[in-house]
Amino acid sequence: MDLLLRNIGKLVGVTEESAQPKRGALMAEVQTISQAYLHIQDGLIVSFGKDSDCPKLEVEEFDCRGRMVLPSFIDSHTHTVFAAARSSEFQLRLEGKSYQEIAESGGGILNSANKLAELSEDELYNEAILRIQEIVKGGTGALEIKSGYGLTTETELKMLRVIKRIKSSAGIPIKATFLGAHALPAAYKDDRQAYINLVCNEMLPLIAREGLADYIDIFCEEGYFDLIDLTRIIQAGQNYKLRAKVHVNQFSSFGAVPLASKLGALSVDHLEVMTESDFKALKNSNTLAVGLPLCSLFLDIPFAPGRKLIDEGAAFVLASDFNPGSSPSHNLSQALSLACTQMKLLPQEAFNALTYNASFALQLQDQLGSIQIGKRANLMITKDKSTELVDLAYWFGENMIEQVILA
Ligand code: NIG
Ligand code: FE
Repeated sequence: MDLLLRNIGKLVGVTEESAQPKRGALMAEVQTISQAYLHIQDGLIVSFGKDSDCPKLEVEEFDCRGRMVLPSFIDSHTHTVFAAARSSEFQLRLEGKSYQEIAESGGGILNSANKLAELSEDELYNEAILRIQEIVKGGTGALEIKSGYGLTTETELKMLRVIKRIKSSAGIPIKATFLGAHALPAAYKDDRQAYINLVCNEMLPLIAREGLADYIDIFCEEGYFDLIDLTRIIQAGQNYKLRAKVHVNQFSSFGAVPLASKLGALSVDHLEVMTESDFKALKNSNTLAVGLPLCSLFLDIPFAPGRKLIDEGAAFVLASDFNPGSSPSHNLSQALSLACTQMKLLPQEAFNALTYNASFALQLQDQLGSIQIGKRANLMITKDKSTELVDLAYWFGENMIEQVILA
């Protein structure tokens, strides 16, 4: 199908090539064409430029009425498949209990795992698809989804099979991440190594045989998994050609960032607590630094130091961390705004972190992340009152995306 977008007020996020993620001063650069057109053929961007130069084509036209057109957001870190909300834990937090205290008393990830064990694949799928419909309305045009609320071989496989079904029906590119090492199940509470053995020697081979995962992940944190576990998980993933995207430095810093980047992780995610050696490890590293501002807001923990990460040469990405415990929001307009007000990014930097750079975090840079000839036409059109990137950050809390175009 052909579609010609006319009368685009600003066509934002144009690139000529997508070889490398942006870092440093380049993160603030966003190429824009005012008064533009864009031609979509068979789902791909085939040409664009000044509206006054638009070729005469016998195809359906769509009048953008002077609004902004941008490449879709890419959400490279979510836990979109889950069984139930955890608002009762939120109530406990408001009464003074901490996220860690709730987890230690059997809540948190283990609570989500207990609930997920009771639901069928169909039930999980139906709930997740409804969530994804909402996610897409917010402008997200590609999504990563993790397992990790299973924590047994059977239930981890169940989650990943649900994600596989989502891949074929969601209408946007989906990547699956195996997060068996998300928390230690009660049955293994005195033998962490036995659980890591199960993850690496039983779950992973079965998952690989069914082709259920694109990436591997671990929650490396005090009270969860340590540096030895991190090494084992990353190396086990390598045996099956699964790159690592890992949860690190959410509550503490003890060497996970330098280790993960040395072992070739695709991304290190969270980064709320950072030391100088962590920054140093990410400078010019191929490992992407992923900040999750919605999680920081909701848990009232520090925001990842986005400004310093960019200034020190890390390739910075933003994502939602959508999940029922630490970030029950997938609103990436809000994430963009928080990155500006709380991480001290420019709106241009936050936009690049959610689009162009985010495409590298899912290895989709050849297909998505910018307005470029040959890329898939997953686009978003903003509301009238948003005429500049800064307006996306300014109208915080509101979904600023009025329409989306998927291929
Ligand atoms: O990214 N930190 C680990 N995992 C998730 C939260 C999981 C949960 O609370 O359910 C996160 O914040
Ligand atoms: Fe997460």
